[in-house]
Amino acid sequence: MEVIVLKNVENVAATAGVLLGELLRVKPAAVLGLATGGTQLALYHRLVEKYLDGSLSFKQTTSFNLDEYLGVSADNNQSFRAYMNREFFDHIDIDKHNTFLPACNEEDNPRLVGPLYEKKIHDAGGIDLQVMGIGANGHIGFNEPSSSLGSRTRIKTLTKQTIEDNSRLFSKDEFQPKLAITMGIATIMDVRRILLLATGENKADAVGKMVEGPVTAMCPASVLQLHENVSVLLDEKAATGLKNRQYYDWTYRQNESLKERFGILHE
Ligand code: F6R
Repeated sequence: MEVIVLKNVENVAATAGVLLGELLRVKPAAVLGLATGGTQLALYHRLVEKYLDGSLSFKQTTSFNLDEYLGVSADNNQSFRAYMNREFFDHIDIDKHNTFLPACNEEDNPRLVGPLYEKKIHDAGGIDLQVMGIGANGHIGFNEPSSSLGSRTRIKTLTKQTIEDNSRLFSKDEFQPKLAITMGIATIMDVRRILLLATGENKADAVGKMVEGPVTAMCPASVLQLHENVSVLLDEKAATGLKNRQYYDWTYRQNESLKERFGILHE
């Protein structure tokens, strides 16, 4: 795991934007994995800026989101589809027909949505780069603690903590879903490269467990220790639970100078 600690939220977004841009320049038809949530907002706004100033295009890009609430349709403002359109897709040149979420509407059989989503990802050639956040309880996607590390896209029941963490986004009389469809942990482990972004002190504990704790289903993000190509981008606050901080900073400097001398490694 490469751990990159940056000063603040803006620097995290800027660095993630650079890494994503590096991929799109060599592979304009890249398949991106995307996420929703507060953490990703600064990144999406950054990418929109890059599109508007002409330095990035998403025209040939395909995207797959990690998750979607169960039974919440695209026209519901709380759906992850609505979030993606509002914060990102509506402002760039991506073809929305090539943007996918594991949506499960009233008429769909939720048991079939997962396998179909897996097939769609497979048929697109797999995900080149997955952007994601981490829950305060260590979840990735909506793979809550105790999720099978071998899981595939399926329905998950959200934990009380996740429901509480997200309640800030719902008004009092609004229905807050307790079920979601999420890419599984094995689905995530299949992607070629992962950028995990975490900001704010409420993520410090989960980040510490993900990077330095044991690999355990009780902190699903810890499984990323077994993935060969993960960069964890943190702001100072999210990094406060790390014991090995000095080494990560030192390694990052070495990696940057290797990149300068030998260029970026691509498949
Ligand atoms: C959302 C997702 C979640 C979030 C995580 C962090 O698509 O997959 O795992 O990334 O809950 O959410 P924020 O960024 O709101 O703290």
